Amino acid sequence: MILVTGATGLNGRELIRQLSARGIALRALVRSVAKAAELSSLPGVGVVIGDMARPETLPAALRDVDRAMLISSSDPAMLEVQSNFIAAAAKAGVKHVVKLSGIMPDLDSPFRFARMHGEIEKRLEASGMAYTHLRAGEFMPAYFRQVPSIVAKGLLFLPMENAKIASIDVGDIAEVAATVLTSSGHEGKIYPLTGPEALSMVQVAEKLSAATGNSIRYVNVPPDDAKKAQLSADVPPYLADALAELFAERRKGKEAQVSPIVQTLLGRRPTSFDEFAAFATPRSFAANNRRREPDPRRTLEQNMKYFLIRYRLKDGLDEQRRREMLSFISALNDEPALSGRISYRCMKTREGPDYYHLAAAADDQTVQDLQSREFFTRYTEQTDLAADGEVEVLPLEIIAETKPLAHA
Ligand SMILES: NC(=O)c1ccc[n+]([C@@H]2O[C@H](COP(=O)([O-])OP(=O)(O)OC[C@H]3O[C@@H](n4cnc5c(N)ncnc54)[C@H](OP(=O)(O)O)[C@@H]3O)[C@@H](O)[C@H]2O)c1
Repeated sequence: MILVTGATGLNGRELIRQLSARGIALRALVRSVAKAAELSSLPGVGVVIGDMARPETLPAALRDVDRAMLISSSDPAMLEVQSNFIAAAAKAGVKHVVKLSGIMPDLDSPFRFARMHGEIEKRLEASGMAYTHLRAGEFMPAYFRQVPSIVAKGLLFLPMENAKIASIDVGDIAEVAATVLTSSGHEGKIYPLTGPEALSMVQVAEKLSAATGNSIRYVNVPPDDAKKAQLSADVPPYLADALAELFAERRKGKEAQVSPIVQTLLGRRPTSFDEFAAFATPRSFAANNRRREPDPRRTLEQNMKYFLIRYRLKDGLDEQRRREMLSFISALNDEPALSGRISYRCMKTREGPDYYHLAAAADDQTVQDLQSREFFTRYTEQTDLAADGEVEVLPLEIIAETKPLAHA
């Protein structure tokens, strides 16, 4: 039996979704019954209540568990709760623990969570159980939680100077974790996990502009000003101090290195920031209910022809559909015949459940090239399935050079 901790968090929830989609039975450790409902409705997922801060709650959760995923929050208790879990797991006879760690764990790091991850890794290595450390870089959703306020101001404020960072999609981390938990040969391994490219904040702002259709500019802010802004936005002082330590490390370029491990383990390149943004932006807007209706005048690119796919998702995207859509988006960038000739955006309407995939092609030949590709057929089929037939696919039928979206 596999046990996943941090099950209600960003990575744990995604991992559980992916394992369940693969037909793998697992147990999810959650602290409160209230948060268990969504997880327990997934096929093969059993939910157990436990709190890693209260070791007496762990033996029941660990019964018959042979592999476990260890995740908890970045908070002052992280070292203690993860150490409690390691001790309880060793006692319960767990054979292999996979730990979600930071990209640069180090007992001497100036960044407090890097020190804690370093110490937890050491304790896990000394526990007698097999271990795998997944040393993840910055999670891409870090930017997207704030997309509405970034768009509202048109400015991305960060104390990053010109440093680059190789952030990673949480779906990729979960896929690596699922692979490690369900196959052999990963015992005693340390896997640094990043996206496919290191980006400066100027580049991140450009990509957010493209994904949202709004002009966004990066503004480097002095570290003290960033901290003051966080404190006035009610970020707890402990966390504001931790973030100041983290950004000081990032400014030194400590998270700029790109790791090949995702490609090696998954046999495909990691999700790019562009691909992630195409999905995450509409979701962020939907979650915050601040999305502006797409303005056709803003989305018309000069001398380009348009096609549009509109659909209504029934149950969200499952893994296969998400993959098909990602392969569609990455092909737009990667295929020599299409690269730079297609502009693509995914948007959600403010009112109602409709999503739009809007694309613009440089000329008719590009549209024909696209329509002849197998990945495009798969993409439209999957979009159709995801929407359970509620798709108004004007799939790559050219609407008009200037016809407003609202009439499409
Ligand atoms: N942010 C980054 O860019 C980044 C990069 C690399 C590594 N990391 C590391 O990733 C980890 C966080 O992962 P995440 O973002 O996926 O998590 P998250 O969204 O912050 O959620 C944390 C999860 O841990 C659970 N949890 C916390 N304390 C617990 C306890 N005492 N007992 C049981 N469950 C507990 C939470 O449960 P509740 O729902 O009950 O609170 C929640 O499910 C941290 O260790 C962080 O240092 C972060």
